[in-house]
Amino acid sequence: MKTIRDFDLSGKKVIIRVDYNVPMKDGVILDDNRIISSLKTVKYAIDNNAKVILLSHMGRIKTEEDKINNSLKPVSVRLSELLNMPVKFVPETRGIELEKAISNMNPKDVILVENTRFEDLNEKAESSNSEELGKYWASLGEIFINDAFATSHRSHASNVGIAKYLPSGIGFLIEEELKALDIDNCDRPLTIILGGAKVSDKIGLINNLALKADNILIGGGMAYTFIKASGLEIGKSLLDVDSIEFAKEMLEKYKDKIVLPIDSVNRDSKGVIRTCFINEIKEDETGYDIGIQTVKLFKNYLLDSKTIIWNRPVGMFEESPFDKGTKEICNILKDINVKKIAGGGDTASAIINLGYKEIFTHISTGGGASLELLEGKKLPGVIYEEENN
Ligand code: 3PG
Repeated sequence: MKTIRDFDLSGKKVIIRVDYNVPMKDGVILDDNRIISSLKTVKYAIDNNAKVILLSHMGRIKTEEDKINNSLKPVSVRLSELLNMPVKFVPETRGIELEKAISNMNPKDVILVENTRFEDLNEKAESSNSEELGKYWASLGEIFINDAFATSHRSHASNVGIAKYLPSGIGFLIEEELKALDIDNCDRPLTIILGGAKVSDKIGLINNLALKADNILIGGGMAYTFIKASGLEIGKSLLDVDSIEFAKEMLEKYKDKIVLPIDSVNRDSKGVIRTCFINEIKEDETGYDIGIQTVKLFKNYLLDSKTIIWNRPVGMFEESPFDKGTKEICNILKDINVKKIAGGGDTASAIINLGYKEIFTHISTGGGASLELLEGKKLPGVIYEEENN
């Protein structure tokens, strides 16, 4: 796999696929982490005298109205502030205005093209990886760099499509993400903290992690399906009935690796909140977080680890006091000086919202993409055909 360092960018039209799919409300960007994460690659291209053409999607475009709230214009303003230089926004995804803007570029100029998914109104051209669209976008540049890690589990025209027609490589962000999430080549012991609601969404992930990790600490809603599978009652807590057999199988096969909560913070039908041992959950109680005894148990494994990967919060972190387990785990990690990686999506927002961003070695920018990588899948946006490079 080639990286941006392998190309002579000077004077060339370099198309960089970034992921600027940032949360936005009424035109205001709520979290610019993904824009910041793209800067290393964008700045490198500028410093190397490239003509930088940025492509990104934003949201999902199904109707003309969807276009109103999903323009990348506000992103171009923020990017311009972060780069401290003008960024030209082109309000179309193809056509004369775009082509003219590109032909007028000088080295070190930066253009941000409108949301690639506007092309989805044209028979899903972007999302179905239309040959015609990939070829058209490729015709606008001379080199293609994919740095949109968070989109790399998608096979779309703006990542996989363009790469078929241009000399291509990855940017620094994808390189860093692949390294951070490489569970085949990390320091051991490797401990995974797994949270989230449904087991059924995580079957591929748990299967792969069970083979490769040394410890899997299970919290969040999905812990209750495992607890039920171990023969205990869980009251009204979340139960993924279809996954009980899978959970049983995993507990039998990997009893030395899978660590379940030993206490739970619950709320009953009257709104009373209490913590109890895991075998004491009452019939009308719902468990929403791990208790302090579980935090202590998890701590023993974490202190012993050389690499820690965290996927999804261990409790309902959006609502106090059920954010305590997730906060306590953050506090433990704060004092441990090993490689600590947080998955994207929910995990990243929980950590950032709770104010613990700085304690991680790496916070992934990709939710779906980081999951697929940890499942052991190859990402179509990263694995290019050798002959195109
Ligand atoms: C993400 O936010 O996970 C990526 O930008 C991909 O977006 P998508 O799920 O709409 O393809």
